[in-house]
Amino acid sequence: MTLLTSIKSPANTAVIGATGGIGQALVELLNNEPAVSWVHAFSRNATNAREGKIYRAPISLCNEQSILDAATKAAKIAPLDVVFVASGILHRGTEIRPEKTMGSLSHNTMSEVIAVNTIGPTLIAKHFLPVMRKKDKSVFAVLSARVGSISDNRLGGWLSYRTSKAALNMALKTLSIEHARRHPQSIVVSLHPGTVDTPLSEPFSKTVANRSLFTPIEAATHLISVVDNLSATDSGGFFGWDGLVIEY
Ligand SMILES: NC(=O)c1ccc[n+]([C@@H]2O[C@H](COP(=O)([O-])OP(=O)(O)OC[C@H]3O[C@@H](n4cnc5c(N)ncnc54)[C@H](OP(=O)(O)O)[C@@H]3O)[C@@H](O)[C@H]2O)c1
Repeated sequence: MTLLTSIKSPANTAVIGATGGIGQALVELLNNEPAVSWVHAFSRNATNAREGKIYRAPISLCNEQSILDAATKAAKIAPLDVVFVASGILHRGTEIRPEKTMGSLSHNTMSEVIAVNTIGPTLIAKHFLPVMRKKDKSVFAVLSARVGSISDNRLGGWLSYRTSKAALNMALKTLSIEHARRHPQSIVVSLHPGTVDTPLSEPFSKTVANRSLFTPIEAATHLISVVDNLSATDSGGFFGWDGLVIEY
């Protein structure tokens, strides 16, 4: 099934967070797209390796030089047409758990969640946006989360994660305005993938009805389809897996 029809061929693409549940699925699907000639798959433990169209390489979200190196490497062959940032953190062992109450908030937890979910993707935007294609449609899409919507927040809780994604949305909206001045055809968006069966959601997905829990491949299919349908006027927006606008 061809998903990417609106991007000029041969397309140069990148996925950051390529070892995650959704990231792996995005790499697999982009690799199968006839219009795509290069899939740069970045993750923190990767070693430089090539498998057909897939070029694996390391990136560290907390090391700006490694982000600059990754952007330079990915755009060496051609400007980038599609970039997905699929990295993110919600929990880590017993050290990081989404807060149920304000009493469980800690400086260390909140700092790490914001470093990974907000600062890392924003620095990726800083270095990848200037090497996106200028004259034709290009898309820089970052996986945010519906819980980062301020207007949709009715339950509270998950303070660090919600805050990190709300701040990420603001950063992308701000960057989209500046970016449009030089790259008017280029699109910068936040995307919500739905609830997806990955290590990130695993401790919390038991309450989700089976039909609402997407497999990573289903989620990646939705996300690539959303990206394919976007136009320049959508830049700066926040979109769900179904292509519908989510209010900030
Ligand atoms: N799954 C869901 O239901 C859901 C819902 C809403 C939004 N999202 C968002 O979708 C994105 C992808 O989530 P996922 O479900 O695919 O999660 P996942 O399977 O846990 O993958 C997360 C990815 O982020 C990377 N990562 C985490 N901490 C990192 C760090 N400090 N430095 C570099 N990379 C780091 C991981 O790298 P390693 O493989 O090296 O650990 C992994 O590639 C996230 O932004 C998440 O917030 C997911």
